[in-house]
Amino acid sequence: MLLFSGSSNVHLTTDVAKALKINLGRVDLNKFSDGEIRPWIAENVRDQTVFVLQSFSQPMNDHIMEFILMGDAIRRGAPKRMIGIIPYFGYARQDKQHRTGEPVSARVIAKLIEVVPYHEVITIDLHNDAIVGFFRIPVIHKSALSVFAHALPAYIEGDAVVVSPDVGGVKRARNMAYQLDFSLAVMEKRRNLDTHDSSESVQIIGDVANKTAIIVDDIISTGGTIANAAKALKEAGARKVIVTASHGLFSGQAFETLEKAPVDIILVSDSIHHRAFPSKKFIVVSLTSAIADAVRIIAAEN
Ligand code: R5P
Repeated sequence: MLLFSGSSNVHLTTDVAKALKINLGRVDLNKFSDGEIRPWIAENVRDQTVFVLQSFSQPMNDHIMEFILMGDAIRRGAPKRMIGIIPYFGYARQDKQHRTGEPVSARVIAKLIEVVPYHEVITIDLHNDAIVGFFRIPVIHKSALSVFAHALPAYIEGDAVVVSPDVGGVKRARNMAYQLDFSLAVMEKRRNLDTHDSSESVQIIGDVANKTAIIVDDIISTGGTIANAAKALKEAGARKVIVTASHGLFSGQAFETLEKAPVDIILVSDSIHHRAFPSKKFIVVSLTSAIADAVRIIAAEN
C-alpha cells in the first residue's frame, strides 16, 4: 500500500500515514515557469494499492489539476488499484443549475476524476449527498459529524439546540441533533445569486432562547452565513453560539468577519490546512482516524 500527498494538505496526509504506520510515497511536485504542473512519482507503484490525498482547497484549480496529473502518472506505472482521498471536494456547491446558463461543475469534476481513472474515492461531508451519484466509481462518503459530536460537550453551557443555518443543511443538523439528543432549529437564508458570496438570515424556526445554539454547516467560506446566523440567534436570546463546519475555507475577509461576529467557538476539521488562526475561538478537530479507517477497509479488500 502506498499513500501520496498532493500539495494541498501534507499535514493531514502525514497524520494519516502515521496512523497507518506507513511512509509517505515520494513525489516531486514541480511546475514549469509558465505554471504548468509537472508531478513526478518517485516510487515503483506496480501492483500496489495506491492512495492519493488531495483537498480541492484554494488554489482549487491547481489542486484539482495536480490530483488529476498525479493520478495519470501513477496509472502509467501499472498499480493494482488507485484511490483518491478528497477530504474537501471543491466545486460541490455547484451541484445543480441554480439558474439557466450555469454549469453543474461538481459533475464535471467527478467525470474528470473517472477519466484518469481513479478506481474509487473517499471523501468527507459533500455539500450535497447526491454528488455521490455523479460518479460511476464507488465513493466512500464519510462524515465529520461524530468527531464534532465527541468534541462539542466540552463547550456547551446549559440546554442546547442544534441549528441549521439554511434549509439545505437540515439533514446534516438533524443528524447532529439526533446524535447529541438535542432539539433542532432551522434558519431561512437568502442568497444573492448575482453577488454569489452574500446572503442574509431571514427567520428562525424553533426555540433558541437561553440555549447554547450549535450551528452545524458543511462549509465556512466568507463567514457571512455564520456571522448573520449568529447575530440573529443572539438577538433571539441564545446564550452562546458554537459553530461546527466540516470545511473551513476562510476565504476573503472571513477571519475578520468571524472575529467580529457574536460567535463563541468555531470548530472546523483539518480537511483544509491553515497555518494559523487569529484567536482561540477557532478549534481544529482531526479527520485522521476517519480517513485511516476508510483506507484500512479498502486495503484489506485488495
Ligand atoms: C451553503 O449552502 C453552505 O452550506 C454554506 O452555508 C456556505 O457555503 C457558507 O458560505 P459563506 O461562509 O460564504 O457564507
